[in-house]
Amino acid sequence: MHVLQHTEYGESFLIKNVRARWVLDSRGNPTVQVKVMTEGLGVGVGYAPSGASTGTHEALELRDGGRDFQGKGVRNAVDNVNRILAPALIGMDSRRQYEIDMKMIEIDGTKNKARIGGNAIVATSIAVIKAAASTMEVPLYQYIGGKYASLLPVPMLNIINGGLHAGNKLDFQEFMIVPAGFSSFSEALKASVEIYGELRKILKERYGPQAINVGDEGGFAPPLEKTRDALDLLIASIKSAGYVPGDQVAIALDVASSRLYNPDKKTYTVEGAELNADSLIEYYSRLISDYPIVSIEDPFHEEDYETFARFTNEFGNRVLVVGDDLFVTNPDRLKKGISMRAANAILVKVNQVGTVSETLTVVELASSSGLRTIISHRSGETEDTFISDFAVGVRAGLIKTGAPARGERTAKYNRLLEIEEEVEKPQYPGFKVFPRKP
Ligand code: PGA
Ligand code: ZN
Repeated sequence: MHVLQHTEYGESFLIKNVRARWVLDSRGNPTVQVKVMTEGLGVGVGYAPSGASTGTHEALELRDGGRDFQGKGVRNAVDNVNRILAPALIGMDSRRQYEIDMKMIEIDGTKNKARIGGNAIVATSIAVIKAAASTMEVPLYQYIGGKYASLLPVPMLNIINGGLHAGNKLDFQEFMIVPAGFSSFSEALKASVEIYGELRKILKERYGPQAINVGDEGGFAPPLEKTRDALDLLIASIKSAGYVPGDQVAIALDVASSRLYNPDKKTYTVEGAELNADSLIEYYSRLISDYPIVSIEDPFHEEDYETFARFTNEFGNRVLVVGDDLFVTNPDRLKKGISMRAANAILVKVNQVGTVSETLTVVELASSSGLRTIISHRSGETEDTFISDFAVGVRAGLIKTGAPARGERTAKYNRLLEIEEEVEKPQYPGFKVFPRKP
């Protein structure tokens, strides 16, 4: 077995070098990449992902504006790492993640990481934890979760894209399949890939070759308008692949409803109709009765804790009610949600809050309050597989990382396949992470 020398040779963990550059994300926009090296020659590379349907209360993504890259350049964020964060971090112990993250927060000095940039800080934070794991010569999920971290997450695969992620007229943003009725991650992924393949065939037959173009997260973006048409297609694909809807493969939705909300009228525009919160609850209730739905994310807009709480009270024993834009991985917003019982699950995105330490705090708070945690990618991603290791490390039980297509999504699934093979006794929680089997 590998002998951990860090106790005797602590200096090998000292940060020797921090270097940022701009690279491209999956939409072809610039993003921040940071490489951290330790004295012991450990290396960690972190990337900032980027959302499209971002919550109002997220850490700020620093963009340059101006003409370069249509205003989306990250030259300032990169410079902030190289000129401000690097000199402060060099010489610090890479294992002191909390201290390092708090130092960056202190240097930034704003509430939403606006001065240094949430993108600059998150890429650095991720690079630091990877550099420490690399110096220790342990896989990242074990560095985070210990030797016995072995719980693989149930994936929620977004195979039909709507909302801001696609150029179609579907109001809801994500239609996901959830392969919970299997005994391992790899079997669950295999079924998902087969269902995705069936969906491609069905879409091509019914709507022609243009219907199999994919959206930002690798799901198809067919010319559909109605929620139920998308759900029926998921059911048809599950059956066509030879699986049993509900029993083996369930369905999850991300409504991303802040985008559908009209604050003046206090209504949501859904399929051309103006629904108030009560009618929207009724609408969801019918969907839950008619389809094997196990999870609904952001069913109400990002400030409406009250309706979230009413909905969770009524349906929380049947589905996960997930706060994404509601909580934005923020400890204070989560605390409010816990005290109001506004949700029974939280979507966790490291770049929403901006550091690994704050994310760990949120996961801890959620788990200890009985909320499920879903570790999530962003619609703009990179080849970074940090979230796969993170999900296993914190024993999240759930991960949301897109369709089984496009390299930035498959990188995460491929890493999970590797981890499942590597751990001594891998576990796959299946339906146990949901309130009930549909
Ligand atoms: P985003 O979408 O990364 O574009 O914010 C993902 C989500 O809403 O869950
Ligand atoms: Zn969401």
